[in-house]
Parts: sequence; C-alpha cells; structure tokens
Amino acid sequence: MKIAMVGSGYVGLVSGACFADFGHEVVCIDKDQAKIDRLHAGVMPIYEPGLEALVETNVKGGRLSFTTSLADGISGADAIFIAVGTPSRRGDGHADLTFVYEVAREVGENLAGDAVIVTKSTVPVGTGDEVERIIRDTGTRHRISVVSNPEFLREGAAIGDFKRPDRIVIGAEDDFGREVMREVYRPLYLNESPILFTSRRTSELIKYAANAFLATKITFINEMADLCEKVGANVQDVSRGIGMDNRIGSKFLHAGPGYGGSCFPKDTLALLKTAEDYDSPTRIVEAVVKVNDSRKRAMGRKVVDALGGVDAARGKKAALLGLTFKPNTDDMRDSPAIAVAQTLMDAGVAVAAYDPEGMEQARPLLPEVTMCDDPYAAIAGADVVVIVTEWDAFRALDLKRVKELANAPLLVDLRNIYNPDDMAAAGFTYLSVGRG
Ligand code: UGA
Repeated sequence: MKIAMVGSGYVGLVSGACFADFGHEVVCIDKDQAKIDRLHAGVMPIYEPGLEALVETNVKGGRLSFTTSLADGISGADAIFIAVGTPSRRGDGHADLTFVYEVAREVGENLAGDAVIVTKSTVPVGTGDEVERIIRDTGTRHRISVVSNPEFLREGAAIGDFKRPDRIVIGAEDDFGREVMREVYRPLYLNESPILFTSRRTSELIKYAANAFLATKITFINEMADLCEKVGANVQDVSRGIGMDNRIGSKFLHAGPGYGGSCFPKDTLALLKTAEDYDSPTRIVEAVVKVNDSRKRAMGRKVVDALGGVDAARGKKAALLGLTFKPNTDDMRDSPAIAVAQTLMDAGVAVAAYDPEGMEQARPLLPEVTMCDDPYAAIAGADVVVIVTEWDAFRALDLKRVKELANAPLLVDLRNIYNPDDMAAAGFTYLSVGRG
C-alpha cells in the first residue's frame, strides 16, 4: 500500500513511521521546510522514545520519505491521512479546523487517482462530511471515500500503542473506504487487534467520548483523594479496591495534580462545545473540566500550606522536580506544573526546577523559574521539594543527599511515588496526595 501522511507532527510522524515499519510505502508531508530538512537529517521534531530509531530504519529501508510538496507526496497514494493539528480556537474552545480544511482542499486539487482520505486528527462530529464536501467541490474526477480513523496514542508510549492497540476504530460510509482501511491495517489484523467499523460520525464521537471518559476517571479519583485526606483513608487502596472490579478497571485511577497535555484539556472543551451546539449538554464533562482546572492551582496552595501558609511561605524557596505534563515527553502543554509554579510565585516563593526533557519548552512559559541542570542543583537551599511529574529519575533520589542539600527535609509528592513510612523513617516531613 502507498500511504501519504499529511502533517508530520506527533500523530503523523509516529503513525507514518509505524505504517512504514509494517511494510507500507509511506510519504510524510509537512509544509514546514525546516522540519522536513531536520527529518532528512534524522533529527526528530519531538521527543518520543524509540521514534528516532524507527524513522532511521525505515528511511534506510526505502519505505519512509519526507517532502514539503503535497502534490508529490499524495501522488499514487491509496490512502491519504490528514494528521495536522486541531488546536483549541481562541475564545470559544472549539477545535480549530482551518488546517484540516486547507489540506482537504489541497488534496482535492492535487488528486491524481482514486484514494481514501482519512482524518486522523481529532475532529468534531461532522468534520468528515465537510472534508468530503470540500474535496468534491474541487471538481476532482477521481473516486474518493472520506474515512474517520481516530488515534489513541499516548505520548511517551506511542509506538507501543500504535503497534499493539486495544482497538482500531474506522468510521467509513462505503465499501471502498472499508476495504482500503482493512488493507492498511492488515498487519495489525494478523496480531488480532480488533477493528471496529462504524459510521463516520460515530467514529468521530468515539474519540472524544474516550478522552472525556478517561479525564472523568482521573478527576473522579482526584476528588476521592481529597476526601481520603479528610477522612483518613488511602486513595491508592481505594483505587485498587475499585479497580479490581472488571467493570471499573484499574487503569487511569492514579490520583495526582490533575490531567494536562495536548489532548484531554483540548478535547474535553471541544466536546462541551459540540454538546452545546447540538443542545445536548454533557454536565459530567462540564464538571470534570472545572474540577481539573481548579485542582492545578490547589496543588500549588497545598505546597504553600506545607510551608506554613501564605505569610510563612513568602521569601522561601521551592524545588520542582518534573515540569512536563507526564513523564517520557517534552510536552509542556497544559502541564499542572505551570499552575503549581505560578501559584507558588504568586505567594512570593522562589521556584527552581529540573525536568529531564521539558526544560527547553518550559523556559518561555515559566521565565521566572530558575532552571537547573540536575535535580540536586534545584534542591540545594530549597525549603520544600515538590515532585510534580513522575519521571523514573525521581523514583530513587539519594534521600541523604536531598536532606543535606535542602534547607528543610520537607517533600510534597504530587504523584505518590514514595512510601510514607519509608519517608518518615528517612526523616522527612512527607506529604502526598490522598494518603491521609
Ligand atoms: C491521551 C490518551 O491517553 C490517548 O489514548 C489519546 O490518544 C491521547 O490523549 C490523544 O487524544 O491524542 P496523552 O495525553 O498522551 O494521551 O497522556 P495520558 O497518558 O493519557 O495522560 C494524560 C494526563 O492524565 C497526564 O497529565 C497524566 O499525568 C494524567 N493522568 C493519567 C493522571 O493524572 N492519572 C492517571 O491515572 C492517568
């Protein structure tokens, strides 16, 4: 199969490299010349474990190439994936579909043969209909089918998620679309990954429903964590106790500082907007968005309280370990660390920070934070150490050294990666989330 991937960002690049690894011939297209030049030189635009090696192998094998020319890239393609960004539109939270529609028009104008056009970007219900209309309006004489195929990749685990998916969802309205997509995913079919065929609108909604449900699960356990602290219960045991019920499931029940990233915050907002437009309110998701937003600053206040309250905290220093919204990514989008750092600085606390991959992206977002080269440099002289992101590098800190370097043995663990008894034994005042 020949596959064109329009948009060489996170989703496009990972999907393109994985499809190539399955043996398909893949061209990744992006109008950003600098990005394509870097890809030609083997430099990845994002940090994702395993991606660089995967790209290198498949470029060498002649199955993966890059271009800025959409016309060249889609020529002869059986399937053309649209994997460009859909940021939140300024002001109303709607997904901004400008790039998707631009690509659709350009694809229509440059089609040189029959093709299935696949929206892989997360797009609101009905976008596939509009993409089809735009392509048909270009007057193309070729047979097309517009299909929805949402991605469920997690940053940091994207290649594994792509190659061993829980399911593949394909929303197609005709046999041409279904048959081409079956071929595209045949290598996974052999792995017995289930393929769910649905209507196009259903497939578009599945993506939002999945992310909104996961965001709800996280927010639910975060509120249970707060309750645990009040009643003297342990949220990790609550998670285990409910997660062992197969109807609930154990995943995404880790309490923490609130969800962030490029997907959950944006997609929940976009779902709310769609629900409003169709006059079908989704009040649970509304509550999830509000609760999660206020949680991030509340975590900053938790640290201020640990320092003895607003008056005592002024002039003190906090060391933040981890800035990205989760480990194994350099992505800072909507990271809880931003709100935590801001709340601390608003209270007059000086903030030093270290993150294994996210510092470059964090710097412009947090210009007043002192960025350090390693965790211990951030900890030196700190009145409180705060674990914000659960990078492996923070799971086995040299606690003796932490105590020697810090001003006080006070550690706030927003990800529950340490054991309260061990920390007490090591002489720390240790606060975590939901372990009252
Ligand atoms: C999420 C989904 O998990 C993917 O299936 C989906 O494809 C992707 O969004 C997307 O729409 O593109 P991602 O944003 O990479 O993936 O990250 P997650 O691993 O889902 O984590 C999201 C946030 O939830 C992080 O801030 C994480 O720390 C938080 N989280 C996750 C918790 O606080 N507790 C948990 O138990 C799990």
